Parts: sequence; structure tokens; C-alpha cells
Amino acid sequence: MQAPAKIAVAGATGRVGRHIAAVLAERGHEVAAISRAQGVDVITGAGLDAALQGASCIIDAATGPSPEQQAATEFFTTAARHLHAAGQRAGVGRIVALSIVGTDRSAGGYALAQVAHEQAVLAGPVPARILRATQFHEFVAQLLDWGTRGDIAAVPRMRTQLVAARTVAEVAADLAVVPELGDGPVTEVGGPRVEFLPEVAALFAARRGYPAKVDGVSDPADPDRELYENGGMLPGPAAILAGPTFEEWLAAVSF
Ligand SMILES: NC(=O)c1ccc[n+]([C@@H]2O[C@H](COP(=O)([O-])OP(=O)(O)OC[C@H]3O[C@@H](n4cnc5c(N)ncnc54)[C@H](OP(=O)(O)O)[C@@H]3O)[C@@H](O)[C@H]2O)c1
Repeated sequence: MQAPAKIAVAGATGRVGRHIAAVLAERGHEVAAISRAQGVDVITGAGLDAALQGASCIIDAATGPSPEQQAATEFFTTAARHLHAAGQRAGVGRIVALSIVGTDRSAGGYALAQVAHEQAVLAGPVPARILRATQFHEFVAQLLDWGTRGDIAAVPRMRTQLVAARTVAEVAADLAVVPELGDGPVTEVGGPRVEFLPEVAALFAARRGYPAKVDGVSDPADPDRELYENGGMLPGPAAILAGPTFEEWLAAVSF
């Protein structure tokens, strides 16, 4: 059992950030929630100094509104700069930043913006660790909605070791307080088994009631198409793997 600490969560209202805030609170920590909804902005810097007062760690789970590479790169690098500067002023000892498994193998787009994010976070001055996660169970709905035209959704033919956002949050909360971060700048976390995205998306659509049909598609214009299809986004042998499976998660989810 770790001593209670004050831990700041950037993106505390997001898909994974809300679970990080909940896990930390359940473990007895004080959570400084950072998001625009809470009046704290990692891009303008508004409210950051006050939010970080007395914090020992920042968990960075914020992401901007645009998935486009240049806009996302701008968001991540600006946020990292502000979190480091304000973190240093407040005496924060560590930053743990969320990223994506396989992002370093990607050829472009949002995933490459994550590479710039990782570099900016690791550049200091506050000591930092990257937590790369596979796609979240909770992200399948978003992928379906992006690909839906009428009654049909097109989703990438992707092999992915989907993980629950809550499971990622537990590992992020561990990294926030573990006395030594150990070897290497990156920790990977993934789910218990490899899934085929069109299949799990179809399960989700059937449970939710729409869309009526899900097609797996291979987009020749996507530079990461082969990576998706050949397992290039799967975690390595040192990754932390934990349930629930997508089906277990889906059985428990409420709409
Ligand atoms: N989704 C996935 O499957 C997945 C998988 C692996 C890794 N990741 C990574 O995990 C991280 C979080 O992803 P997510 O899917 O949880 O994101 P999300 O649901 O889109 O949440 C984004 C969070 O960032 C906050 N935010 C946006 N602009 C902000 C600003 N200017 N200042 C402060 N907060 C701001 C949002 O709150 P406000 O709008 O209130 O500001 C929200 O809390 C990202 O780095 C992502 O790449 C995601």
C-alpha cells in the first residue's frame, strides 16, 4: 500500500482519464483533475499552476479535438511543454504520459503525432515515463461511428489486443507512485487476447442495436494498412496483459 499522494490527471474527463481519476481516488490519493471542463487548460496554461500545487506526479491522458497529424502534434507538444514548465515550478517529481502501442512503427497521422508527444514528454525537465496502451474496448464505438454510412459501418481490418480503459488506468496509477520506474522509458499494456476489429465491432453493433452491418475494409490510401493487418500494432513480449476480454467487458456495459 503506497502512501496517499496528490496526483494530477490531465484529460481527467476522457475515455481513460476518468478511470485514472477513479482508480487514484479509490486508492486514497488526492486527484487534481485537469480538463477544460474543469477550467484548466494544458494548451493555454490557464489554471495549471494552481492545479499542480503539491502534486507529486502528473498523468497525461489529454488529447486534442483533432486526430489530424499536424494539429495533434501541435496539441501534444504544446501540452507537454506546459506540463513540464508548470510541473517543474510546482516541484512535481514525475510525468506519466499515455501513448499507443505500435505508434513508433506507424507511417503517419495521429500515431506519428504520438511519437512527437513521447519525445516532448521524455525531453524533460521533469523525469517521465511513457505508458503505451493498445486500443481501448471503449474506442470500438468511436471507430464504428466514424465508419458508419447509413446502415453499414466500415472498420479497418485490424488485429488489435483490445484492453479495458479501467485496466490501463490501474497500470497508470501504479506507475504514478512506484518508487523506481525501472528500465527503459516505455511500459506497454494490452488486453488478454488478440481480436479482429471487424468481429468485435460487429458484436458491439449487435448489442447496441446499430448499425445493421459491419464490413472489414482495407484502405489502400492508409499508410498503416499493412501494420494494422499484420499485427504491427500488437504489444511486445514485455507488455503487461490483463482482462477483461472484449466480450466480458461488453456483457457488463450498459447503454
Ligand atoms: N482511445 C484509445 O483507444 C487509446 C488507446 C491507446 C492510447 N490512447 C491515448 O490515451 C490518451 C487519451 O485518449 P482518450 O481516448 O481517453 O481521449 P478522450 O476521451 O478524447 O479524452 C481527452 C481528454 O483531454 C481533455 N482535453 C482536451 N483538450 C484539453 C485542453 N486544452 N486542456 C486540458 N484538457 C484537455 C478532454 O477534456 P475537455 O474536453 O474537457 O478539455 C478529455 O478529458 C491519448 O494520448 C490517446 O492517444 C488512446
